[in-house]
Amino acid sequence: MSFMVNRVLIIGLGLIGGSLAKALKNKRFARVIAGYDRNSDDLQQGLDLEIIDEAVSDLTTAVSTADIIVLAVPVKATEAVLSAIKPYLNVNTVITDAGSTKANVIQAAQKVFGSVPVNFIPGHPIAGSEKSGVASSDEKLFVKHKVILTPLAESNKSATRLIARMWQSTGAEVLQMGVERHDEVLAATSHLPHILAFSLVDTLAKEQDSTDIFRYAAGGFRDFTRIAASDPTMWHDVCIANKQELINQIDNFTDGLAVLRQAIVTSDSQSMLGIFTRAKSAREHFNKMLSGTAYSQTHNNLHVTFHVRAGSALHGRIRVPGDKSISHRAVMLGALAEGVTNISGFLESEDSMATVQAFRDMGVVIEGPHQGKVKIYGVGLHGLYSPPGPLYLGNAGTSLRLLSGLLAAQAFDCVLLGDKSLSRRPMERMAEPLRKMGASIETATDGFAPVVIKGGQTLMGIDYQMPVASAQVKSGLLLAGLYARGTTCIKQPAMTRDHTERMLRSFGVELNTHNGEVSIASGQILTATDLEIPADISSAAFFIVAAAIIPDSDLIIEQVGVNPGRAGVLQILQLMGADVTLENHTQRSGEPVADIHVRYAPLTGITIPEALVSVAIDEFPAIFVAAAAAKGTTCLSGVGELRYKESDRIQAMTEGLTRMGIDITVNGDVILIKGGELQGAKICSFNDHRIAMAFAIAGTIATSEVMIEDCNYVATSFPDFIEVAQKAGIRIHKEET
Ligand code: S3P
Repeated sequence: MSFMVNRVLIIGLGLIGGSLAKALKNKRFARVIAGYDRNSDDLQQGLDLEIIDEAVSDLTTAVSTADIIVLAVPVKATEAVLSAIKPYLNVNTVITDAGSTKANVIQAAQKVFGSVPVNFIPGHPIAGSEKSGVASSDEKLFVKHKVILTPLAESNKSATRLIARMWQSTGAEVLQMGVERHDEVLAATSHLPHILAFSLVDTLAKEQDSTDIFRYAAGGFRDFTRIAASDPTMWHDVCIANKQELINQIDNFTDGLAVLRQAIVTSDSQSMLGIFTRAKSAREHFNKMLSGTAYSQTHNNLHVTFHVRAGSALHGRIRVPGDKSISHRAVMLGALAEGVTNISGFLESEDSMATVQAFRDMGVVIEGPHQGKVKIYGVGLHGLYSPPGPLYLGNAGTSLRLLSGLLAAQAFDCVLLGDKSLSRRPMERMAEPLRKMGASIETATDGFAPVVIKGGQTLMGIDYQMPVASAQVKSGLLLAGLYARGTTCIKQPAMTRDHTERMLRSFGVELNTHNGEVSIASGQILTATDLEIPADISSAAFFIVAAAIIPDSDLIIEQVGVNPGRAGVLQILQLMGADVTLENHTQRSGEPVADIHVRYAPLTGITIPEALVSVAIDEFPAIFVAAAAAKGTTCLSGVGELRYKESDRIQAMTEGLTRMGIDITVNGDVILIKGGELQGAKICSFNDHRIAMAFAIAGTIATSEVMIEDCNYVATSFPDFIEVAQKAGIRIHKEET
């Protein structure tokens, strides 16, 4: 419940106290914002600049009438100020502070009051500036900044809520933390960087000819040392107040620096690049992980909406990006190999970057990607390190499932996490057979991620009959099988993509494959190799369908992977009457590749053979669109797996196509799509990349504009979809809001 506070008394009118007063006054958080400072000039200035409503010269009545008292004084003055206000304190008054260390503030309160008063809620606004003093007060100082409150177990809950509400009114985000954890985290994230900046500037300033160093200092030095201009007294006090935690962090940093020094001394490029590449990607990675969003948001949190209009026929030649399934596997096997693996054609998308980051987190040096080229310094089957925290895989289901198999066999524990959508996808299908192999692996409620793995288990090969046709499960088990004693044999109910098998062979691993069964014996090593990744047929599928349904189109999609475990979409479209031919057949790193040539031809509805479902599993959103554009009815069955993809794709396609005026019925496992005229509509993508792209294609033959919302996730597999679509001749643009 929010009610108006009568009086807030801010003791200490410096930058923090003044900025808080100004913000609270602007937001009318209280009837009166009173200020006190032992420096009467500062106090007068606060009044003159209308930062406070009242200047308090005598604490007696000001303290007894305040609802909230904020101590915005240097931490070392806390004890003295608490002693000074103690005699006049009203029992209901809530006290907080703004000190940047918390354990010693708690100690000060204990000393003065015997025990910490239940209405004393320690706080720390993580905001500041190189400027100091009341004249620099800025009412926006706390906007979008974090304020950490460290209430104790016995603290009054409504007092904590009141202080939280006070800071929220300034635009800050309020968090709670334990006292010790606060001091530890702040030592690492704030105190250490300040100490390093002060020390670096001081060290360089003492060198002979230091003038030149400063005169020619470029941006890097300026950026790094900006905080060395902060208030020396305050930082002196912080060092005293948080001494032990800060020393721990300095030691930690010194060890890290010594490792880097040694790498430079010995010209150890692998170690140097390892440190630099991990650091380069770490900042962005942690932000994504904390916000639970897709891995490397290239779109700055903007909402992306696609707008599509019908236009002319598609012509010419296009290229679509590298295969997502193969890109994930290339990173994984390259990392486990002995030697250096060079990859070309790598998919630079959010999903594949999540895999790259996971291996960086486990100590693997990976250079790139740069224009599709990635260099992986393999660490061998037993060379992965325990990651510093959970591995965050964003939207990448393939990565999470394959890694579960691989990590179940490692010596270390680990936790695998994903974004909201990935945290709703079934993980037990992977965990269950791994447990049969002897792994210690747990999923969360309903069998979802996080997946928690306890390392150090001895795995045994098993004979496993997969209940669902899943290349991810098969691949995860093959990776675990590399480590398991004896032979791991997997039987699949239907054909699935065999990229893992093909790639393992490229790395020199022997496998037996026969009649949908694959087995792998342990004790084999992977030898680094160079890999060329073909274009992704799942991305190509949208353009294949577009050219098949837009009259007069004649389009070639170059050098696409046509693995029989993936090419079902071509057969389905051909059965519907599409004019699709393959040209320029080649092999790339053990995968069949061809140019796909599509010319418009009228499509007819068919009953899709169930045998083709598992080899076209990702292409159904595009196939639904082809069916909607065909003459007659298309009947699908055996597609229940579509409910467990990045969204429930049966629901998503049914909802969208119905909005576009198509007659579509879902009856248990049977779906009937009656072809018809597609109308313009506003479509929800359900945060699923392939749903968004499928409706973009539907829009090419709609009677009016199709607007597809929440298309950010297209970046998980096809970051430059819009550009490629425009090049092919599609009238599409994106709007970012
Ligand atoms: C994939 C396998 C398929 C597919 C996914 C990628 C792979 O998933 O849908 O997009 O790379 O192994 P399932 O194994 O769940 O069928």
